[in-house]
Amino acid sequence: MKRIILDCDTGVDDALALLLAMRSPELSVAAITTVSGNTTAALAARNTLLTLALLGEGPFPPVARGETAPLERGLVTAAHVHGGDGLGGITKLRDADGSRRYPEPAPGLDPRDGPDLILDTVGRFPDAITLIATGPLTNVARTIIRSPARMRRVKELIVMGGAFRVYGNTTPVAEFNIFADPHAAQLVLDFGLPLTLVPLDVTESVCLMRPEVEALAEGAPLARFVRDVTREYTDYHARRDGFPGCYLHDPITVALAIDPTLLESAAAFVQVETTGDVTLGQTVADLRPGKRARPNARVCTAIDAERFLALFRERVMGTE
Ligand code: BDR
Ligand code: CA
Repeated sequence: MKRIILDCDTGVDDALALLLAMRSPELSVAAITTVSGNTTAALAARNTLLTLALLGEGPFPPVARGETAPLERGLVTAAHVHGGDGLGGITKLRDADGSRRYPEPAPGLDPRDGPDLILDTVGRFPDAITLIATGPLTNVARTIIRSPARMRRVKELIVMGGAFRVYGNTTPVAEFNIFADPHAAQLVLDFGLPLTLVPLDVTESVCLMRPEVEALAEGAPLARFVRDVTREYTDYHARRDGFPGCYLHDPITVALAIDPTLLESAAAFVQVETTGDVTLGQTVADLRPGKRARPNARVCTAIDAERFLALFRERVMGTE
């Protein structure tokens, strides 16, 4: 069993990643921290509590709100992808009796801020925490700045981020999480913990298609949530990319912790563009054969899409 901290910007696919993590016996979620990214850190925290409430009464891991703005640049959010509420508009949905289908969760945030919750959790479980980041790396970077010695006791980092041999999804060369806080990403890479990046190269090779989601939605209650939360997100992809489906960037990142055999990776020296006008947030790795000098990360290069989707269906949609 792996003990994890989930650091997320909840976010449609972050919510699905959270459900996958909570429903996977291979993982024990010790803490959850939220960061600004897809939406504000405050809404991400609310969305995290709302998603946890779908799982019943708890007990749940502590949830703390983290950093509200990137280290150096201005706040960038993604309301056009994840909706104004960060959850594809599901907070507006009403059932036939007029009540909210996904009510506001009861207050329940941990009083600590994100970095302090991370530090306390690593202190409780030194050398035993896998820190999974599915949003911009601002919280992780701030935590390193606050206590580098304590952060040395993190066992490994798994990060959704980057685009290497594919286009970016935010600019032609930059993936959203890295683009939103490139300085944080570079700081985390420089810190030198064992780190695996799960880039668009692999996450965009898997797609959950609308017809399947619609067909399963009347089954298990979580399958209905998957349908509701992905509807606008799928509309976005249908408009932008011409297919009625959605990417599962963040669930794939959690799946790597559940079953490392689902993805292949290569050691690489990764750098982030932090100054370029047109290339801000680009991740650059020398993946040329024979050029593996001074690796500071592993970069995922391939995924067993069918096996991942089977895991996702079984754990989150209750159908396998
Ligand atoms: C990443 O950015 C967000 O849109 C998703 O939640 C994911 O973490 C993909 O670029
Ligand atoms: Ca995310």
